[in-house]
Amino acid sequence: MDKLVSLCKRRGFVFQSSEIYGGLGSVWDYGPLGVELKKNVKDRWWRAMVHERDDIEGLDAAILMHPRVWEASGHVAGFTDPLVDCKTCKARFRADKLQDAQCPQKPSKKPGEHSTCELTEPRLFNLMFKTFMGPVEEQAAVIFMRPETAQGIYVNYQNVLNASRQKVPFGIAQIGKAFRNEITPGNFIFRTREFEQMEMQFFVKPGTDGEWFERWREQRMAWHHSIGLAPARLRWHAHGPGELAHYARAAYDIEYEFPFGWNEIEGIHNRGDFDLGRHQEYSGKKLEYFDQAANERYLPNIVETSAGADRVTLTLLVDAYREEEVEGETRVVLGFHPGVAPIKAAVLPLVKKDGMPERADRIFHALKKQFPCFYDDSGAIGRRYRRMDEAGTPFCCTVDGQTLEDGTVTVRERDAMTQVRVGEANLVEWIRERL
Ligand code: GAP
Repeated sequence: MDKLVSLCKRRGFVFQSSEIYGGLGSVWDYGPLGVELKKNVKDRWWRAMVHERDDIEGLDAAILMHPRVWEASGHVAGFTDPLVDCKTCKARFRADKLQDAQCPQKPSKKPGEHSTCELTEPRLFNLMFKTFMGPVEEQAAVIFMRPETAQGIYVNYQNVLNASRQKVPFGIAQIGKAFRNEITPGNFIFRTREFEQMEMQFFVKPGTDGEWFERWREQRMAWHHSIGLAPARLRWHAHGPGELAHYARAAYDIEYEFPFGWNEIEGIHNRGDFDLGRHQEYSGKKLEYFDQAANERYLPNIVETSAGADRVTLTLLVDAYREEEVEGETRVVLGFHPGVAPIKAAVLPLVKKDGMPERADRIFHALKKQFPCFYDDSGAIGRRYRRMDEAGTPFCCTVDGQTLEDGTVTVRERDAMTQVRVGEANLVEWIRERL
């Protein structure tokens, strides 16, 4: 992880937020390569969940919502972690994770193990961030920064149903920011206080929820394979009765084997009629669906798929990172699936003379209209290849002497390091086929 974090900073994937002021705890910024990588994750999710399907509509609900939403959802009462304070060192720990925590006193031990440790009894700590709406703080309403995007979908379910031509079963998908005042964030962008979720809520007839739950489990695992994650490092974790969230009838996590152990990257939940039932009760508005074909009314059940865009981005980085010995040197490669790679191709003139830079510049600008590309004319060609390997660029197109003679460029492929000649006129198509 240390090597990856340092590469992410050096190459412009991820920076610490407000770094020049010493950073802000567990908040991160995406640099030029990171923003492209994360955008590719979100675009591929949106394509698979909205554009390629007939039965899912998109939504972009606001972060700020009516405070009653969070009472109905159960977050005001139940979105809490048990917390203990140490009166000696003033550190805070999750009571249920003491075994994984470290006391800040030296030598390093677990909280409670130093003779001077003085831990308080566990208290419940709500993870929602509060803010104020209105100009005068004292009189203003306290509202929350949403801790999940799902509630924006539930409260809009009838709007979407009325505005679209959908019938149950159908889904609503959304990508957006969520905020949680995590007590023990960490592992880089794995658990942060501000993050993005990619959530889809699928509304089904009661009694068909079990079948849809299984279908969605299958489709979501297939999606993680499709973005290039190694299947051997993905597995299912079924929530036992003690683990199930208050809203869930059944829940499975898709877990990935990170350097810090197996951890959740996405949850698939059978939420039954909990959400629409609670919003119907708290808002006083009828949220039943009228099934014309069957001439019956019911409250749809919900199957949810909920993934973190930042967590999937981290998973791609971890999965892609490798070091190899090549001709006595260590080569660092981010072996991304070409479809998610931030830069798709680099254009490199072999030397800075004989008309090669001009020709390379022309090719670069033609490619750049189609997908993100990079131009590099500085340093030995081998070093330029290595820089692109580290950024995860799948194809390097070198303009050399032969280009000026027959119009072909050398395309060097990142993983096998093989080289083929491709005609300038066919280059866009050649690369596109491999994305
Ligand atoms: N609507 C259901 C829900 O929010 P969750 O298991 O709390 O379920 C779903 O979160 C996903 O959101 C997780 O699998 C993870 O990918 C992401 N996520 C949750 N908390 C996060 C955090 N603090 N930092 C980054 N990602 C987070």
